[in-house]
Amino acid sequence: MLQDWRTLHVDQEFVGHTPVLPQQVARLISVSSGETVVDTTVGLGGHSSLFATALGNDGRLIALDVDPANLAEAERRLAGQPCRIQLIQSNFACLRDVLADLGVDRVDVVFADLGVSSTQLDESDRGFSFLRDGPLDMRMDPSLETSAADLVNRMKEKELGDLIYRNSQERASRRIARLICLRRKEGRITTTDRLARIVAEALGVSPESRRHKIHPATRTFQALRIAVNDEIGALGKLLDTVPDLLSLGGRFGVISFHSIEDRPVKLAFRKGASEGKYEILTKKPVAAEEDERLANPRSRSAKLRVVRRLPDAR
Ligand SMILES: C[S@@+](CC[C@H](N)C(=O)[O-])C[C@H]1O[C@@H](n2cnc3c(N)ncnc32)[C@H](O)[C@@H]1O
Repeated sequence: MLQDWRTLHVDQEFVGHTPVLPQQVARLISVSSGETVVDTTVGLGGHSSLFATALGNDGRLIALDVDPANLAEAERRLAGQPCRIQLIQSNFACLRDVLADLGVDRVDVVFADLGVSSTQLDESDRGFSFLRDGPLDMRMDPSLETSAADLVNRMKEKELGDLIYRNSQERASRRIARLICLRRKEGRITTTDRLARIVAEALGVSPESRRHKIHPATRTFQALRIAVNDEIGALGKLLDTVPDLLSLGGRFGVISFHSIEDRPVKLAFRKGASEGKYEILTKKPVAAEEDERLANPRSRSAKLRVVRRLPDAR
């Protein structure tokens, strides 16, 4: 389910950076003191703080993020935790190499809370939000070469339509791509506001209209963000790598926010289970309870899946 955009501003500012599904993560990932935990998406350190507290003096937390600004904030928030903490700027697609560089063979927990953080959405100059005008950027890792503006101004109409459909299931993808290609002839599309207006026009909806639960540009922005950051490609690499990195009994948990990212997680966990590598701890994905859904709108579309590593069959 996509988030009701009419509540987005107020609630996100109010909530700040509350980690989603904190109790469910703590119960199912169940970190013990002395373990080694990898948080592959440390963000603002919400889930990592929970892990670090449970790890105690002898545990080790390895925390990754592609976004150097979030890593710096996480470092500040995790200061004073008793366990050993290593914060590393890296894409989780490279987890195997990161652990090899650290001389770590096996870990007890791998965790990923996918997508963007509230800070990334809130800062207009990062260009993720159709609610705040800013440069059409959307790079979580600022060193990436291609921004969302590059995609919408360079891609052929058919490729752009396919990309929007593939990454968001937007039914009007062809219409949107056609109008983007028409409007960019009048001048390069460089801002979130201009793109949001073009998408709304393609859908025949006023961008100011509050009649619709979902902002008309929600799906197109999601599709571009996924493409800019190669989110599904990186997730696929993570899902492929983790079975070899988990110790016996190790847990792997993923929180996803839409079906485009939940599906590969579900399929990889089922495949691991059919190969005897994983025990699935969440027969159905775990969702937020009513009180969390009310307090933190971001939790409304969150789905947590967790598996436990079994011994390899002989
Ligand atoms: C939803 S936030 C995580 C929030 C965090 N769990 C917390 O409680 O504060 C997702 C974070 O993952 C990062 N990220 C997204 N894709 C990534 C990837 N492929 N590799 C590493 N970090 C990634 C984003 O930059 C963002 O900071």
